Amino acid sequence: MGDSQGQLKREGFSSGLAIFFATLGSAVGLGNIWKFPYLTGQFGGGAFLLVYFSCIILVGLPVMLSEFYLGRSTRKNVVGAFDTLRSGTAWRYTGIMSVLAVYLIMFFYSCVAGWVYLYLFKALSGDFAGITAAVAKDQFASVVVGPWSPIIWQVIVMATVSAILIMGVKKGIERITKTLMPLLFILILLCDIRALTLPGAGAGIDFLFNVDFGKITPPVILTAMGLAFFKLSLGLGAMVTYSSYFTHDNNLFGTATKVALSDTLVSMLAGLAIFPAVFSFGMEPGAGPGLLFMTIPLVFSQMPFGNILLVAFFFLSSIAATTAMLSLVEVAVAYFVEEKGFGRKTAVIINAIVILVFGVLAALSADSSALLGQYTIFGKGFFDFFDYVSSNILLPVGGLLIAVFVGYLVNPAELRRELTNDGAIPAVLFEAFYFIIRYITPALLILVFLNSIGVVKL
Ligand code: PFF
Repeated sequence: MGDSQGQLKREGFSSGLAIFFATLGSAVGLGNIWKFPYLTGQFGGGAFLLVYFSCIILVGLPVMLSEFYLGRSTRKNVVGAFDTLRSGTAWRYTGIMSVLAVYLIMFFYSCVAGWVYLYLFKALSGDFAGITAAVAKDQFASVVVGPWSPIIWQVIVMATVSAILIMGVKKGIERITKTLMPLLFILILLCDIRALTLPGAGAGIDFLFNVDFGKITPPVILTAMGLAFFKLSLGLGAMVTYSSYFTHDNNLFGTATKVALSDTLVSMLAGLAIFPAVFSFGMEPGAGPGLLFMTIPLVFSQMPFGNILLVAFFFLSSIAATTAMLSLVEVAVAYFVEEKGFGRKTAVIINAIVILVFGVLAALSADSSALLGQYTIFGKGFFDFFDYVSSNILLPVGGLLIAVFVGYLVNPAELRRELTNDGAIPAVLFEAFYFIIRYITPALLILVFLNSIGVVKL
């Protein structure tokens, strides 16, 4: 498949470094700051990491490479990619499902990102000085119940994401991720140094890295697999869309491996910043999503240089959330521009409005005492419904369809040519990939899917 397909004006990333930071920007998100370290600590520390790495190798990297193939070989958005390779078939609906999944994730992700922005603002205004546990809890409860502040901050989040996206792939996504991702590393290291030098920090390190193989049960393995998926932004075309902007000589195996390793490193650094502090101050590590918002301000405000660290922490969390959202919304924007003929600016604005209209439902239902907290769809509040359907159903199904498509329907010679850059990359890597994507990845994904909808109980 040719590089430009006659779309001479199509934008793209300018270098390998830009590709790395943009892709890492998509992977590093709210999942790193909270979900990964907490699950690692709870489910066996080093042993869980081992399982997580196996999931990355057997499912994460193969699906990521498949998405890279779809995007870079066709130079199209996720719907256009399927249409190009199998035109006139129902496969385009896999792409449409991806766009739908993006919306569902954005409805609640933009809401949580709004809380993060608000907490950055509160940290900058010195709102957390001398707070007690009760005050921290009240502050979070009032944010979640709203009704106005979660909506206003969600609007600010969407305005920020939209402004960056309107600037385009190079001047927007590339410039922002190349500037902010290194900054995010520096800020995490700053928080790490402070947290690790606290008295009693060792308990936090133990929590994260203590190897306990006894905790590795089938449901934990499935959790690790789901996490690998969400962490690497797989199953909804984000990597298809970004790779459609990759340079033709980029080493796709190298990019996928570097991104997976760096994303894991950021997650562990986040864990090392959070858990030693949580333990040092005798807090509860299993506080759920509220940990970020209730415990962190309390813990950091009690230590020397605490407020600077709080600002640093919520700033890096805002960066992580924002760069992840760029990749999510870009999936829908590229679709509207390329398939529906919208101008880029119009596409961004319309998508932001759609996300906000439904996102408000999430913002007002994140807690049962919130304005819409009592309304349910299939027994779940809006916030939980959006999260459940996207993470537990659409992502694994999307991943499975992508694996089957690339493993069985794509011309193997063409696949090999694209993934090895015309033979420049060792064939053995391709052979390993091709075996895994055909036989192992689909089997594991079917298991995860059946488990997540409750058909198989492991
Ligand atoms: N990988 C992001 C995180 O860890 O928070 C979440 C995400 C971003 C999922 C982009 C899916 C996606 F397409």
